[in-house]
Amino acid sequence: MWKTEDMGDLSGRRFVVTGVSGLASAIIETLAAHGAEVIVAGRSPIRAGALIHDIETRLPDARLSHRILDLGDLGSVQTFVEAANRDLDHIDVLINNAAVMAELKRGETKDGFEKMFGTNHLGHFALTLGLLPLLRKGTNPRVVSLASGAHKIGEFDFGDLQSTNKFKPMVAYGKTKLATLMFAKELQRRSDVNGWGITSVAAHPGFARTQGVYDRLDTIPVLGWIAGKTVVPLLSHVPEKAAESTLFAATSPDATGGGYYGPQSWRGLKGPVGPSEPANYAEREDIATRLWDESEKLTGVSV
Ligand SMILES: NC(=O)c1ccc[n+]([C@@H]2O[C@H](COP(=O)([O-])OP(=O)(O)OC[C@H]3O[C@@H](n4cnc5c(N)ncnc54)[C@H](OP(=O)(O)O)[C@@H]3O)[C@@H](O)[C@H]2O)c1
Repeated sequence: MWKTEDMGDLSGRRFVVTGVSGLASAIIETLAAHGAEVIVAGRSPIRAGALIHDIETRLPDARLSHRILDLGDLGSVQTFVEAANRDLDHIDVLINNAAVMAELKRGETKDGFEKMFGTNHLGHFALTLGLLPLLRKGTNPRVVSLASGAHKIGEFDFGDLQSTNKFKPMVAYGKTKLATLMFAKELQRRSDVNGWGITSVAAHPGFARTQGVYDRLDTIPVLGWIAGKTVVPLLSHVPEKAAESTLFAATSPDATGGGYYGPQSWRGLKGPVGPSEPANYAEREDIATRLWDESEKLTGVSV
């Protein structure tokens, strides 16, 4: 059974993690506790500053910094990428963790994409491609992408990628997580073909008791409150445990390129980390290629 202690000493390795709260804070603190340098890529300097301050009270030697990144704004992604390419000489691991989960009504990003698709998939797509030159200068570079069991309810209607004609919250979210998983696999295939030397791994946390989950429950009157007090604590695990699959994907030699990892117990909701089964649709290389091409067109970013 893999444990975070198995990560060993990560000093000298530089990680970029998207997101500040929820799983991100557990991922960032555990990496820092193992000596890694972590760049926190989040949209709020106040929340990022508070997180860094909080971690530093427990880990005075932590090597943490913040750079502003709003994944719902391609201009912000571009600014982040340009500054990183200017200031840094390499990145070893990029963890694409941030996401919008609790959108009940269709919203849009600054660029007019459906908010979850634009943030969770297109923002990370543009970010990853923009950081490829730095990743290629890293040592054993990796990209970890956070999918979800919800990918199984997603499917693509390429005529309505932005869910303009039909918006169902969980299906739209599931679609973004399917896109994330297919992107991770396609990135590995392209790295293999083009010799980029990147290991691309997907992970999911199972069911994690994070703010995003409680925000979602808050949208369901009464039942959401009852579930939050009963079923949710039973079926979910704390962020520190839920972060393990991401940390495994980011650091373990046993996490292989193109693989997908998550908790093994309670139908994948919690428990020790191991291989996860993707939906058959997620293995479709023809769809993954098409999604990549569409994502290039929509973001204007390509390799
Ligand atoms: N929790 C679960 O049970 C569960 C299950 C399956 C998969 N996942 C996946 O695990 C990952 C982490 O989930 P979580 O539970 O930690 O979510 P969360 O508690 O809702 O946190 C989401 C994080 O994403 C950031 N974020 C949202 N929009 C952003 C934007 N436009 N630009 C930059 N950052 C943005 C948020 O930053 P702010 O602080 O600025 O809002 C926050 O740090 C997500 O990819 C999610 O899909 C979670």
